[in-house]
Amino acid sequence: MQGGGLEARYTLGHGALVDIRNLARTDGDDRFYVITDEHVAPLWADAVAERLTAPRLALPPGEESKRWASVETAVRWLLEQGAERRDTVVAVGGGVITDVAGFVAAVTMRGMRWVAVPTTLLAMVDAAIGGKTGIDLAEGKNLVGTFWFPSAVVADPAVLATLDPRQLRAGLAEVVKAAMIAPATLQHHLPASLPRLAAGNLSECEEVLTAAAKVKVDVVARDERESGLRASLNLGHTLGHAMEAAAGYGRLLHGEAVAWGLVAALILSCERALLPLAEARRWAEWLELLRPLPNLGGLRWHDVAPFLARDKKRSRGSVGWILPRVGGVVVGLEIADEEARQAFERLKTVQDEPLPSLF
Ligand SMILES: NC(=O)c1ccc[n+]([C@@H]2O[C@H](COP(=O)([O-])OP(=O)(O)OC[C@H]3O[C@@H](n4cnc5c(N)ncnc54)[C@H](O)[C@@H]3O)[C@@H](O)[C@H]2O)c1
Ligand SMILES: [Zn+2]
Repeated sequence: MQGGGLEARYTLGHGALVDIRNLARTDGDDRFYVITDEHVAPLWADAVAERLTAPRLALPPGEESKRWASVETAVRWLLEQGAERRDTVVAVGGGVITDVAGFVAAVTMRGMRWVAVPTTLLAMVDAAIGGKTGIDLAEGKNLVGTFWFPSAVVADPAVLATLDPRQLRAGLAEVVKAAMIAPATLQHHLPASLPRLAAGNLSECEEVLTAAAKVKVDVVARDERESGLRASLNLGHTLGHAMEAAAGYGRLLHGEAVAWGLVAALILSCERALLPLAEARRWAEWLELLRPLPNLGGLRWHDVAPFLARDKKRSRGSVGWILPRVGGVVVGLEIADEEARQAFERLKTVQDEPLPSLF
């Protein structure tokens, strides 16, 4: 996908990495610095660094790298390497690396350019788009950060071949989410592409991934600083985040929590007559393809509710749910705790049954 405005520099295609020097270029006199993680370094980032004649820094993999210590390590490394303000940081990795390296670019010498090279499906359709960068604190995720847009996003689905299948399926939850937000853009891609991708087959996946990315690109272009519209991207995330946090980070991958959150949103939509049962069942069929998902048997409402309450406190009183309706979503709905609890308990009843059986 290439076009005007914000998405002008979003490229997704098999073989894009071979062309990285060209795609990442700004003024022809660029110097690049690659930041990656230790998993991705030997698999993909070293080759990117070579193509860009760039030095590279590998942080430890995983969410633990989204902290101040990594920022200090990376900024000092850039200075040691002689980086200047007009040089470009290239983040090669999943959402952790695009978040932290984008933040490093934002704060080093008051702001360097950066290019995102997402290597997980989640980062290709979500984390690398939209300019949000940042790190976690002990008090919670993503509490320090800034909006700092990459000058280009270069996504090559070939890199997904080395991704853990569980991570791949989890990322697909964001694709289904994008389809629920903008059915007109994505719905007709799902029947052919989703079963293939869920089974780890990466052939002909460009269209569906580009369409999912475009949903976010379009929403962000209309609402760069999250004043309202952008909230629609949080579909499935209200309960999803709370379940992810309550389970203990890592036990339920973000996308897995979102998949369950989407099912809960479908349940609530049906209850509020926003969506006919048949349509909810159809979405549940897509989500069924993402299984096995860790089941929620061990999770108690008692542990989940405080995280919902914390969200509510941060947004001054209302959690503002997003629910699917026919043709899109409704944003900012009030859902009583008891109603949310009931939807959560319904999720827990699903063990070996297919998800559509809930509707
Ligand atoms: N900025 C945003 O708008 C935004 C949006 C969504 C999520 N996020 C953030 O993204 C992070 C999650 O991102 P993620 O799911 O990509 O996780 P991640 O970056 O931790 O990657 C998951 C794992 O896969 C490995 N990996 C990455 N690419 C690989 C490849 N091609 N082959 C083999 N292994 C590979 C990584 O080393 C890591 O171990 C969270 O911190 C979340 O807050 C940010
Ligand atoms: Zn998400």
